[in-house]
Amino acid sequence: MYEHDVIVVGAGGAGLRAAIAAQEAGADVAMVTKLHPVRSHTGAAEGGINAALREADSWQDHAYDTMKGSDYLGDAPAIETLCKDSPYEVIQLEHWGMAFSREEDGRVSQRPFGGLSFPRTTYAGAETGHHLLHTLYEQVVKRGIEVYDEWHVLDLAVSDEERPEDRTCHGVVAYDVATGEISGFKARDGVILATGGPGQAFDHTTNAVSCTGDGQAMAYRAGVPLEDMEFIQFHPTTLPSTGVLISEGVRGEGGILYNAEGERFMFEHGYANNDGELASRDVVSRAELTEVNEGRGIEDEYVHLDMRHLGEERILDRLENILHLAEDFEGTDGIKEPMPVKPGQHYAMGGIETDENGETCITGLYAAGECACASVHGANRLGGNALPELIVLGKRAGYHAAGKEMEPAKIETGQRGEYETATIDSPVELGEGGTPGDAVADGGAVAAGGSADPDTLLEQAVAAERRRIEELLDKDEGIHHSEVRSKVQKTMTQNVNVFREQEGLKQALRDLRDARDEYQNVKVMDPSQTFNTDLLQTIETQNLLDLAEAITVGALARKEFRGAHWRAEAQERKDDEWLKHTMLSWNDGSPELWFRPVILEGENKTYEPKVRSY
Ligand code: FUM
Repeated sequence: MYEHDVIVVGAGGAGLRAAIAAQEAGADVAMVTKLHPVRSHTGAAEGGINAALREADSWQDHAYDTMKGSDYLGDAPAIETLCKDSPYEVIQLEHWGMAFSREEDGRVSQRPFGGLSFPRTTYAGAETGHHLLHTLYEQVVKRGIEVYDEWHVLDLAVSDEERPEDRTCHGVVAYDVATGEISGFKARDGVILATGGPGQAFDHTTNAVSCTGDGQAMAYRAGVPLEDMEFIQFHPTTLPSTGVLISEGVRGEGGILYNAEGERFMFEHGYANNDGELASRDVVSRAELTEVNEGRGIEDEYVHLDMRHLGEERILDRLENILHLAEDFEGTDGIKEPMPVKPGQHYAMGGIETDENGETCITGLYAAGECACASVHGANRLGGNALPELIVLGKRAGYHAAGKEMEPAKIETGQRGEYETATIDSPVELGEGGTPGDAVADGGAVAAGGSADPDTLLEQAVAAERRRIEELLDKDEGIHHSEVRSKVQKTMTQNVNVFREQEGLKQALRDLRDARDEYQNVKVMDPSQTFNTDLLQTIETQNLLDLAEAITVGALARKEFRGAHWRAEAQERKDDEWLKHTMLSWNDGSPELWFRPVILEGENKTYEPKVRSY
């Protein structure tokens, strides 16, 4: 068994920032990550980091834009924390040597992004995430923080008291990809999940194959509620054939969207008369698909994003990476021709319920970054607000886990008993079977059981994972996990997309139930002990199943149109009824639905919901 004060799971932007903070606070910290840190999906982030750096800007304006972008489903304490801390974190990155793009006078450059009232997106070309990742990783190396890379975390070691609020997380169980060894990692002070989103639940996504929501699924099964899972962001500009991201930075620099008739439809069809292409993402994605659905799409599938008028020099200076992506993945030369684009899954606004210090309702368990939901994004994230979330909330989680004194959080997590519950309007029985500690083959919970002392608990968790892996490897016959995974991806993309309607959502739940049944028969075809990606992807597929179900249950429950969640049956935002977070708790394999009110009271003001137009 390995042992450290703080274990950070995942080594993208949030994980690296959390590890640095925990180490600064005096902890012996280690990172356990299924990828080498610089291969994390943060490296694919292109556009930038929103931070109110200029005199004419303010964190209050950033907070207002973020709350409006969230369609009033963000929690004010989390949003205000994000916007207040972001400038300091950007300056910290600058001091650590991050290669930001710069103005003639030497200041770091900022550009407009969708839904912002001020051009406050700080960037490094169109590869901001890549530079961020390398800058943070350098700090981790410099500080000698231990990194167990290519160790795939399989489960959390959590005690099994009745109420999640009474449980404690003592560590994780991980699988060494190189050797097949399964070991416990004891965390004396805390475990921080920074494992990214569940983008692979969809088949047209900007997300890397590694984005399988592992931390969300593990926390959910251990008893932490998932919050607002129905809010999935579809980015308006992805390449049609692959889902590769074409940054919002293109529109920020002045790129224009055209339909098949050569109309600048964002204005000409009145989708966003003020901000046009720089409306928020939910608005632009719906506009593009409406154009396609009404017969004004190109090849019935996509629209054009044109940046030719920016000129070669500016494109090469600020968007060079976009040229390469369009050329390599779509065969399009962005200097000479418009680029084909369509909406694609990009980001999960929901996730593991945390407060603004990254703490979950389970003692010793934290989450930060895309896997978490402190509710800074509500129903729709603004472009450029993901990277500040990683560094601001990652740092806070790191400090808190390491015991540094923090201002008490204003968001209270896990207070389920106090709030409204609801039955799930489902055409199928959900999440049946499985009890904590069961092998994954029955589709049930995999959280380790026992209220024993931490070492015994970890040993039990390791033993449970060894049994689970043996069962998966020892089966004589069965189907390959990819059959199940593609069923999940197909139904999610078809039925839980930009436009959603009741029958489609119910169909998705039926398909997911079938996929879950099929998963009982999965067989790992590769028997090897080393670099067994077949085994690991089989385990990831289980995570995707649980999360796809949570996304769909949330989408079915929320009978209103808010932010990225459009419902055919409910064409308006219903503040009287729905100013509340959708919460899903795992109860012995069954998801339970409840709601927590949104917090609109900020430090010095209450954010009053207004009609949201751009
Ligand atoms: O379009 C982009 O560059 C993506 C940025 C983001 O998701 O924040």
